[in-house]
Amino acid sequence: MNKIGIIFGTDTGTTRLIAKKIAKKLGDLADKPVNINRIGLDELMQYDFLILGTPTYGYGQLPGKDTNIADGSWAEILPELQKADLSGKLVALYGLGNRDKYGDRFADSLFYLYDAVKNAGATVIGSWGTEGYDYQFSKSEVDGRFVGLVIDHNSQGLLTDQRIDEWLDRIMPQFEQQLAASA
Ligand SMILES: Cc1cc2nc3c(=O)[nH]c(=O)nc-3n(C[C@H](O)[C@H](O)[C@H](O)COP(=O)(O)O)c2cc1C
Repeated sequence: MNKIGIIFGTDTGTTRLIAKKIAKKLGDLADKPVNINRIGLDELMQYDFLILGTPTYGYGQLPGKDTNIADGSWAEILPELQKADLSGKLVALYGLGNRDKYGDRFADSLFYLYDAVKNAGATVIGSWGTEGYDYQFSKSEVDGRFVGLVIDHNSQGLLTDQRIDEWLDRIMPQFEQQLAASA
């Protein structure tokens, strides 16, 4: 599909809010964001261009039934996603966490999403600097950078819009180039 699919997991809605902010900035380039528990893997697979978002719950986990989301979330899709063929797909990731309360496992679940799509063959773009977050440990920090945009809307909410803008400014040329090539 020649549009960017924005797919998120959430419990209390913040990751949806971020998805909507991203969609608004992308305008016609993106479809309306959808919760992963409303769609199956087949629908995700229709997109060649994806922005996937997740909060971290439990003890540094992806959201899902184990973290008390009755309808399930990324945790339930992950085994299928790992087996899928995502080669040729361009994927950017964002993750939410709270460094004040969970600074020892800050936004850890973003790593699991990254690891799954990367191993499934996707080209992952949009790594992000760790400056200005001030946490003790994050699994999502690989070679000194986060594997995607990290948003701490709980303790750094004033920075959210600026972070989204800067991240989109960096990744959009890559999406646009590929979108044009596939048109
Ligand atoms: C029970 C619970 C566990 C959490 N565990 C973590 C964690 O391990 N690491 C982290 O960075 N944030 C953690 N958080 C913070 C959430 O990721 C953060 O509040 C996020 O914005 C929630 O997103 P949502 O509103 O889309 O569900 C946790 C929050 C709750 C309530």
